[in-house]
Amino acid sequence: MKIAVIYASVGGTTRECAELLKKELKIHDVELFDLSERDPDLSKYDTIVIGFPIRMGKAMKKARNYMKTHLEDLRKSRVAYYICCGFVDCFDEYAEKTIPDVLYERAVAISCLGGSLEPSRFKGLDKLVVKAVRAEILGGGENGEQRKDMSLPTIMDENISQFADKIRCVQ
Ligand SMILES: Cc1cc2nc3c(=O)[nH]c(=O)nc-3n(C[C@H](O)[C@H](O)[C@H](O)COP(=O)(O)O)c2cc1C
Repeated sequence: MKIAVIYASVGGTTRECAELLKKELKIHDVELFDLSERDPDLSKYDTIVIGFPIRMGKAMKKARNYMKTHLEDLRKSRVAYYICCGFVDCFDEYAEKTIPDVLYERAVAISCLGGSLEPSRFKGLDKLVVKAVRAEILGGGENGEQRKDMSLPTIMDENISQFADKIRCVQ
């Protein structure tokens, strides 16, 4: 199976997930495309995977624009989506809100592959936002008591493996 993994990423976590997914799908021909660099010819692939992070409750703008401008081609293709975010418990809400309805209904799989709130991955305003969210989760800052109902996100290997299984499974 020829698979294109098309992703957008600022801090590198969504890119890292694309690389881990490629490893997981090793027997297949998988190509990675960073949306900032390349716009692949979708007709060349049996399956397309789109990955993006959540920023301020929305899909990262590049991914949002991509889904909008390629809606017709994506609608006709076999497509799976993955999301990276800080609040993994909000994943269902993010998925419904960020993936256009017509694509959501036809998706082969939609998964949360985790996220990272590591400030060193970000610059400027992004870094400040990540620090603030991180402090909230940790409860009053790095040395405060961590909130019992929340934890810092990580990349979820088990979800990557399950997501890859769904991509492999052609009915
Ligand atoms: C400016 C900014 C806004 C964010 N907003 C949200 C948000 O609304 N909800 C959420 O769950 N995570 C949010 N995050 C966390 C990111 O989704 C998370 O850090 C993700 O792993 C980033 O992926 P990337 O490294 O590929 O850019 C935000 C991060 C930044 C930098």
